[in-house]
Amino acid sequence: MIQKSFVMMKPDAVQRRLMGKILSCFEEKGLQIVAVKLMQINEDLAKTHYGEHADKPFFGSLIEYITSSPSLAMVIEGEEAISTIRKLVGATNPLEADLGTIRGDFAMDTGRNIIHASDSPDSAEREINLFFNEDEICDYEIVDNKLIYE
Ligand code: RTP
Ligand code: MG
Repeated sequence: MIQKSFVMMKPDAVQRRLMGKILSCFEEKGLQIVAVKLMQINEDLAKTHYGEHADKPFFGSLIEYITSSPSLAMVIEGEEAISTIRKLVGATNPLEADLGTIRGDFAMDTGRNIIHASDSPDSAEREINLFFNEDEICDYEIVDNKLIYE
């Protein structure tokens, strides 16, 4: 099933000039970028986005991290995009993430794990609506999709 996922390069990815490389990981896999926005996330938005972690001991430092500098918010589309992107991103702790994944290749610390991706269809819908208006998401056909999909 074709799905859309919400993906966000966190402030450390932007500061470390990794945006191009990470975007390439998704493009080279055959996924399609349908929305992109560089934005400084404010405290309210960060707390809503990560609301499920409000009671966790790391919540304060997570909010500080996410609001520290601009992030690159994206919507990415493709066959089974939500689980496929979670696999590409790798485990939450970069030291446990497989090599070849984004966190496994580019990060060292759970508190600086460079990227977020939706973990379920419900989260994807909630997060896409939180960060993007409908008219910011492009509906378009990539001409090489006939080489990517049978
Ligand atoms: P994300 O939501 O950012 O895609 O990450 P995730 O699903 O892999 O992990 P999740 O459990 O949702 O945690 C959200 C983010 O909180 C930070 N974190 N710090 N210090 C800690 O123990 C800890 N645990 C989580 C990470 O930035 C994690 O990505
Ligand atoms: Mg999560």
